[in-house]
Amino acid sequence: MKEQLEKIYSNATADIEKAVTVKDLEDIKFKYLSRKGEFNEIKKGLKNLSPEDKRVVGSRANEITQQLETAISEKFRVFYEQELNKKLEKERLDITLPGQYIPRGSVHPLTSTTNEIVSIFQNLGFSVAPNENSPEVETEYFNFDMLNVPKDHPARDMQDTFYTNVAKNVVLRSQTSGAQVHVMENQKPPIRIIAPGRVYRNENINSRKNNFFHQIEGLYVDKNITFGDLKGVLNEFIRIYFGAVRPTRFRSSFFPFTEPSAEIDVQCIMCGGKGCRTCSGTGWLEILGAGMVDPNVLRGVGIDPDVYSGFAFGMGVERLAMLKYAIDDIRLFFNNDVRFLEQFKK
Ligand code: DAH
Repeated sequence: MKEQLEKIYSNATADIEKAVTVKDLEDIKFKYLSRKGEFNEIKKGLKNLSPEDKRVVGSRANEITQQLETAISEKFRVFYEQELNKKLEKERLDITLPGQYIPRGSVHPLTSTTNEIVSIFQNLGFSVAPNENSPEVETEYFNFDMLNVPKDHPARDMQDTFYTNVAKNVVLRSQTSGAQVHVMENQKPPIRIIAPGRVYRNENINSRKNNFFHQIEGLYVDKNITFGDLKGVLNEFIRIYFGAVRPTRFRSSFFPFTEPSAEIDVQCIMCGGKGCRTCSGTGWLEILGAGMVDPNVLRGVGIDPDVYSGFAFGMGVERLAMLKYAIDDIRLFFNNDVRFLEQFKK
């Protein structure tokens, strides 16, 4: 029996030695040490031995059981450590590696130009009209009728204005001037607002024209407003926006909703006034239309033109951005080529 004991012991030791997985160890433990294991079977036979042998064999059996238990748990520990080391190795973090580069976006130049213009006018005492007074989808009533644009005016023609199929009189606004009407219908003078936004025109696209672009509308209505106020405000705007006094000229013009009307040109920065492709050889670039609000427009919204007067203006954001940054093609704003956009990172 003692030999049997030693044999099992040496088998078990060899098995433990050979074990390569945790599962192997569990099997060994079950095979030898569980209640149904080989040692228990032997221990059951102890009762048939003489007291002397029982003591010797019994104590040897206990000794062996203990040794095997220690050997198995030692091997468990080794496996566990190997496992842990493998895992640590796999999850090792090299904190000296450079981080992943996440490219930073930038504000679109038209957005930053709009923001800049808005803030200049805010400093001059204007506030931004509520959004609902400046919708991109308009009725002819706001886009034309109330702005004194005659029914047969060529600007209403399909060639210029995008009509929608929502209803016969619903258009994509061709100008931000409709905001003037919304504002004057909703508030009484004194009124001093600007309204930035997108406008749409059925244009042939080229380096200077796109079929949508952006304008900033301005309106100042109060008692005793004169053309001198118009000139003062717009000259001050130009001075601040370009950061220096730039050659400008006020040219007499015509708009149905202003009388008198003017267009303001800034000297072309591409050629310094000599004449180039950008300015069609004239040396000047138009940046805005303006004028004294036509008495018909005031009357239409219930403001008495004998008591109040006002001036209005509408400027092209793309034009102003092109002039400031020497951009010679309007399409660059809309292609969204990052090589172009990246240049405007602050
Ligand atoms: N709405 C005109 C356009 O798109 C620009 C304009 C001219 C606006 C004169 C005005 C103004 O407010 O008074 O060409």
